[in-house]
Amino acid sequence: MTTRVVCNVGELTTNDPTLGDGTSLGRLHDAAFVVDDDQVLWVGGTADAPDADEMLDAGGAAVIPGFVDSHTHLVFAGERSDEFEARMAGQRYDGGGIARTVAATRAASEEQLRKGAGERVSELRRGGVTTIEIKSGYELTTDGEVRSLSVAGEFTHERTWLGAHVVPREFTGDRDGYLTLLATTMLDACAPHAKWADVFCDRGAFSVDEARTILEIARTKGLAPRLHANQLAHSGAIALAVDLDCASVDHCTYLDDSDIDLLSASATVATLLPGAEFSTRSPYPSARRLIEAGATVALATDCNPGSSYVTSMAFIMALAVREMAMSVDEALWSATKGGALALRRDDVGHLGVGACANFAILDAPRAAHLAYRPGAQLVASTHRAA
Ligand code: NIG
Ligand code: FE
Repeated sequence: MTTRVVCNVGELTTNDPTLGDGTSLGRLHDAAFVVDDDQVLWVGGTADAPDADEMLDAGGAAVIPGFVDSHTHLVFAGERSDEFEARMAGQRYDGGGIARTVAATRAASEEQLRKGAGERVSELRRGGVTTIEIKSGYELTTDGEVRSLSVAGEFTHERTWLGAHVVPREFTGDRDGYLTLLATTMLDACAPHAKWADVFCDRGAFSVDEARTILEIARTKGLAPRLHANQLAHSGAIALAVDLDCASVDHCTYLDDSDIDLLSASATVATLLPGAEFSTRSPYPSARRLIEAGATVALATDCNPGSSYVTSMAFIMALAVREMAMSVDEALWSATKGGALALRRDDVGHLGVGACANFAILDAPRAAHLAYRPGAQLVASTHRAA
């Protein structure tokens, strides 16, 4: 096993509060750290750095833990830029376009799906993402959902079955038939290929009662629950997520005081997806109210062709800072450690000793540049544990 010391780090964010400045960012200056192929072995000042097999001089640049993008829909075919243009001209987003992506994805070959997902994974990685969650949900047949999850499995272990994205067109008029398919044949076939189950619980998709039934059955098949909720309207979906101890409830565009109280008293992470508000011209969620109430907030891209065709976590950070009044440090923490908590992982999202050797070296002296210089490619290199 080769060891490597990364030295001359102008600003090192570890997200380990026992290190550096003692804040939740665990920040050090003129820092160094040692990794092997798997994990972080040592963190400290450059002057104290031990010898290693290899040396990488960061030249005063900032280093951050690799981004954890805990919410994506990367397996799809086609694109919907016409809907984006229509929304920018005033049309509302209601999820109706999902059916177009379902048709395009069903018509695509597995090779085409692999190529498209691979390109998007490469874009995320270039931008410093080292852990990616990928959902199914654009085939909505038993074989198709298995196919999407298999393609996703070529890129990540964090796979989510989203058969309950919407009721597909062939089941219009037979909603119960689709619910039965979800809970029986499709779930049985998909469970071996996924770790998580998700439901789009919102206006025009699935109700709170339907989501509860699906997630409870999925849990008996070994899938842990998470939820798309309150993107389009207020509902009881936040209470459901907390009641089921979902790892994360995602979107949270519309929250009332009781939703915020429930989240802040729970282990369920509120994952905010400001790329969706940007791309659908919707109001941004109340990040400040969540943080001040003590809820755990994550940030993710939600990369999908309809509501958020975004592959840059730096852009997501910039939106969170500019549009949701998060500080740069809060946004960085939510895009790294927050994402890890949304996946119930303690081995990623930080650079404490023992963490996965996942980090990004920036082409900037401070991590703040990620939000300060939106649109610039500021990730010089992304490093992932073997
Ligand atoms: O997270 N809201 C549900 N699903 C996706 C969007 C799907 C689409 O429009 O294609 C989301 O926003
Ligand atoms: Fe989503």
